[in-house]
Amino acid sequence: MQLDDLYRRVIMDHYKNPRNRGTLDEESVTINLNNPTCGDRISLQLQVVEGKVTNAKFSGEGCSISMSSASMMTEAVKGKTFDEALEMAEKFSALMKGEPVEFDEYEELDALSGVNKFPARIKCATLAWNALRKGIEQQQESH
Ligand code: FES
Ligand code: FES
Repeated sequence: MQLDDLYRRVIMDHYKNPRNRGTLDEESVTINLNNPTCGDRISLQLQVVEGKVTNAKFSGEGCSISMSSASMMTEAVKGKTFDEALEMAEKFSALMKGEPVEFDEYEELDALSGVNKFPARIKCATLAWNALRKGIEQQQESH
């Protein structure tokens, strides 16, 4: 798969030096999801305080796209309210559809824009974001 060089560097950096990889001592919610097409999996933990994602960590095994996307997503959502986090998830979906999107909050997410040209890879890139949506849903239902 061919991605712009700069974007590829950002993705590989997040893959090799993942941000927020590990587990939280005090998590509010844990979501385990896998990508049915390949079996790769992610476990996402969110710490939530008063409708805000105060911390996020992930673990799991997957390809460079899925793991770098999880690394970026966890960086991007820290400190965001549920609404803000869901808005970013919407923007990310739009990016995967090839729509022009600006991530003023966390520009590194742009690095995954080229993935929309590879339909099979879109599932890799969205795995972490789907886990985020699910985690927020669960928190909203339990309150
Ligand atoms: Fe090209 Fe994974 S980076 S297939
Ligand atoms: Fe499995 Fe990308 S190939 S998540």
